[in-house]
Amino acid sequence: MSSPVFYSLCIITVIASTFLVQAVGALRLKKCPSYVMEKSNVSCTCLTKMKKPHNVTWPGHSQSGSLFLTNVQRSDNGTQYTCLLTADGSKEEVVYTLRVAYGPYDGQVSISPSHLVRNGTQPVTLTCTAEDTYPTPSYEWSGVSCENQVSDDACTFSLYPKDNGREVTCTAESVTLSRKPSYTFHNSVRGTASGTINLNVTLLRPDCGEDLVANSSEQFITSPGHSNQYCVWHITASPGQQIWVDSLEMELETRDPCNRASVSFYDGDEKNGKLLGKFCKRLGNYVPIMPASGMATIVFVSTWGGSGFRLIYKTLPGCVESLTADSSIQTIEPPGYPEKYLTNMVCVWQITAPAGKSIRLNFTDFQIEKSRSCKWDYVHIYDGERGGQLLGEYCGNKDHQSKAKFKPVTSFMNKTTVVFKSDVLYPARGFSLQYTATDTV
Ligand SMILES: *[C@@H]1O[C@H](CO)[C@@H](O)[C@H](O)[C@H]1NC(C)=O
Ligand SMILES: *[C@@H]1O[C@H](CO)[C@@H](O)[C@H](O)[C@H]1NC(C)=O
Ligand SMILES: *[C@@H]1O[C@H](CO)[C@@H](O)[C@H](O)[C@H]1NC(C)=O
Ligand SMILES: *[C@@H]1O[C@H](CO)[C@@H](O)[C@H](O)[C@H]1NC(C)=O
Ligand SMILES: *[C@@H]1O[C@H](CO)[C@@H](O)[C@H](O)[C@H]1NC(C)=O
Ligand SMILES: *[C@@H]1O[C@H](CO)[C@@H](O)[C@H](O)[C@H]1NC(C)=O
Ligand SMILES: *[C@@H]1O[C@H](CO)[C@@H](O)[C@H](O)[C@H]1NC(C)=O
Ligand SMILES: *[C@@H]1O[C@H](CO)[C@@H](O)[C@H](O)[C@H]1NC(C)=O
Repeated sequence: MSSPVFYSLCIITVIASTFLVQAVGALRLKKCPSYVMEKSNVSCTCLTKMKKPHNVTWPGHSQSGSLFLTNVQRSDNGTQYTCLLTADGSKEEVVYTLRVAYGPYDGQVSISPSHLVRNGTQPVTLTCTAEDTYPTPSYEWSGVSCENQVSDDACTFSLYPKDNGREVTCTAESVTLSRKPSYTFHNSVRGTASGTINLNVTLLRPDCGEDLVANSSEQFITSPGHSNQYCVWHITASPGQQIWVDSLEMELETRDPCNRASVSFYDGDEKNGKLLGKFCKRLGNYVPIMPASGMATIVFVSTWGGSGFRLIYKTLPGCVESLTADSSIQTIEPPGYPEKYLTNMVCVWQITAPAGKSIRLNFTDFQIEKSRSCKWDYVHIYDGERGGQLLGEYCGNKDHQSKAKFKPVTSFMNKTTVVFKSDVLYPARGFSLQYTATDTV
């Protein structure tokens, strides 16, 4: 008798060991799933190309080459079924090992560290736990960009204050496939479960930034040179001073919507203030800002090192003022006049005359961007407070328009408010507006 030789056949994950006497490799398993979901049925076929006469059976289970198992249970996992080939003078066996898959039936997300009170950037790790599952599922995260993913079930990322309240979901999915050589999938088992967590962040101190005071000198803010940062600058000015912030350079990320690095501008502070804009590149963006609240806040968030930004800030003297009219002729001119005025500017002048008097206003020069209905750049003159009765709305060029349009106006009350707004494009010379107190008509 020749000594038995041991072979092992590997059909993807189905391990079949073959003992043979003569019929080398004559037996194979076909459509036998590598994993079977619990409570389902299994159909597995054992085949040979050997010429008859021969018998192929699953001793104790089937008199033919077809094995059929119903309602498999977890306890059946690991059970081995032997297929036997008998032919004249030879014998061969192949073993099918049943693997029973189940779940996942529940999922949970946990976070470490759990206490998210932070100074600056803090890396945190989320862990996804899929309950009651076999084999190991795959995990997918949504609501978060995982950075250094050590393993599928763990997600590490840097937490920013803006993440407060954000919902992060992990979905665990068990999909087990066996693949035929033709690369078509057959027989998959599938189970999914997901878990969700709400991030809870309290910022104690940002990574960088400063509390700054704007004055009439030009001052600058330059981006810090690292990625993974959260920086906050607050710029204030003395009461009645208009703050003006513009970007000189900004190239952080070329893809919208500025997910990996951005600079946000707020009118007021970053918690309660109004978001004026979020930018990651300068071109085409409306970067110059003038907050109405007396405080500008700049928040820089970065998970990626772009080439950075440089901002300029200063106050605009003569842009927000309370003036008094008397019998003399005084003049209002926007900052920059008679050179180009600044873009994205809002100036507000309040003029008060003695009780019983009116105010007469007369443009001696006027050249600002012209638009239909003066919707881009304009001067509004109100009787009384801003938002009161509109005495005049102006844009364009005084020399090119009918004289009537620019004839002097006189207020009814002893107060008038002049508002000048410019947009981001086509700044021009500006205007010169004379005002004087007159007897009420
Ligand atoms: C499994 O087979 C049994 C008997 O043939 C049948 O009644 C049952 O519906 C099958 N179950 C599934 C999940 O296919
Ligand atoms: C096949 O099985 C039948 C019945 O069990 C038996 O009579 C026959 O001899 C077997 N044939 C071979 C080739 O083993
Ligand atoms: C199922 O059986 C396989 C093969 O015997 C074994 O490796 C695995 O650990 C078993 N799984 C469970 C959950 O018992
Ligand atoms: C935050 O920074 C302050 C001052 O540097 C320090 O005393 C405090 O322990 C830090 N807190 C945390 C949570 O890191
Ligand atoms: C966030 O965490 C703080 C401190 O651990 C806790 O007091 C607060 O209730 C938490 N908020 C939410 C919405 O979970
Ligand atoms: C504005 O403030 C800066 C920084 O404090 C200072 O160096 C500069 O002299 C100030 N300029 C004026 C005009 O006050
Ligand atoms: C004129 O101005 C004074 C304050 O300067 C105010 O008290 C008064 O009501 C005003 N009178 C009119 C007629 O608007
Ligand atoms: C208004 O200004 C123009 C110059 O642009 C001047 O000719 C005119 O006399 C002024 N009108 C009044 C009422 O001051």
